[in-house]
Amino acid sequence: MKPAATPNWWRKTACTQAWRHCSSTAWPTHEPTHRKNNMTFLFSPLTLRSVTLANRIAVAPMCQYSAEDGFANDWHLVHLGSRAVGGAGLIIFEASAVLPQGRISPQDLGIWKDEHIAPLRRITHFIEQQGTVAGIQLAHAGRKASVWRPWEEQQGRVHPDQGGWRTDGPSAIPFDTNYTTPSALTVDGIKGVVKAFADAALRAQQAGFKVVEIHAAHGYLLHQFLSPISNHRTDQYGGTFENRARLALEVVAAVRQVWPEQLPLLVRLSATDWIDGGWNVDETVALSRLLREAGVDLIDVSSGGNIAAAAIPVGPGYQTQFAARVRNEAGIPSGTVGMITDPGQAEHILRTEQADLVLMARELLRDPYWPLHAADALHDVTSWAPQYMRATSRKSPQRPNVDYSDNE
Ligand SMILES: Cc1cc2nc3c(=O)[nH]c(=O)nc-3n(C[C@H](O)[C@H](O)[C@H](O)COP(=O)(O)O)c2cc1C
Repeated sequence: MKPAATPNWWRKTACTQAWRHCSSTAWPTHEPTHRKNNMTFLFSPLTLRSVTLANRIAVAPMCQYSAEDGFANDWHLVHLGSRAVGGAGLIIFEASAVLPQGRISPQDLGIWKDEHIAPLRRITHFIEQQGTVAGIQLAHAGRKASVWRPWEEQQGRVHPDQGGWRTDGPSAIPFDTNYTTPSALTVDGIKGVVKAFADAALRAQQAGFKVVEIHAAHGYLLHQFLSPISNHRTDQYGGTFENRARLALEVVAAVRQVWPEQLPLLVRLSATDWIDGGWNVDETVALSRLLREAGVDLIDVSSGGNIAAAAIPVGPGYQTQFAARVRNEAGIPSGTVGMITDPGQAEHILRTEQADLVLMARELLRDPYWPLHAADALHDVTSWAPQYMRATSRKSPQRPNVDYSDNE
């Protein structure tokens, strides 16, 4: 699964495919029209089903804790829009709750009702106009729900009389001392969660997303079921690997059934709980194989988040080893994330076949234009918005002019 070599065919085939589902613009705006033969891996396209990302740089999902009742607003438009102007190939919108009780904080983005669709569509439309593919992470926080957003003075659980709510999990085991003890979901409750993910995927399609990512990482509900530390159930959803994986696989099956065949489906996994007796890398590889068979197109490989006391050896590229194992042992494209900040580092990860996609979070908060700078640093080219052409230091291709007059 080497990244596509210099794609002589790309301008004719992949571009057309990538834009088949785009209603707004007719031209792939990051198209490397002046591409040299020694194209970098980072700036080579990635095709998943009918969708082609112009490069291998993805904005990782990042909660903004800035929504009211789950609604996207101007903050999300400017925040996500800037990163599209900055040239990322894919932007994955933050963890978006499929049910209101699945929000981490009361200010999380949501996609649990049809009214959420229109403001999201406004943003996906703008992102598409820049030539970036819009994806959304569908999420349920389970026992980690109903907490204060990070910058509030108060931390830990939000009580029901402060706007919080009762939480659900696989078992009645709290994440930490200052978190609510969840109610163990009934089998009917689990069915409701599965349906909520599928309903949310349908809304995501109506909102113009071309990629859906299911959040099964970072100690949120699906990860809580995977890990024997948070899942003590004795029914068909607990105990063996097959039983702990059942909910994630049911969610994927339900989403794949409604999510258009031609559009890619991603799953984010935490490869390890970083603790003995927890979810581990071997299980992640085994699950990735099952997810591939279930129609998942790429595993976004992260780690941790389910055990408050776990010691995680964080450092540059510390999770690429897990993405490499998933890619090479489960035979499915992988994305890697975590402390990737430097263009050479990102290029190295792809060139050494550890992953097919590089997701970045904090570095893209520091610099939304990182892809533009990275192309320069790697002596490659990527296209710039016409409005910004006077700032280019070399002959970068210009994206087409966009008519914004009809944007809502
Ligand atoms: C502000 C912020 C919000 C985040 N929200 C999410 C989220 O909504 N979903 C998710 O899977 N990860 C979330 N993450 C984790 C990132 O996607 C990423 O995995 C992590 O920050 C490591 O990447 P980095 O070293 O490039 O920041 C968040 C990270 C940050 C910094």
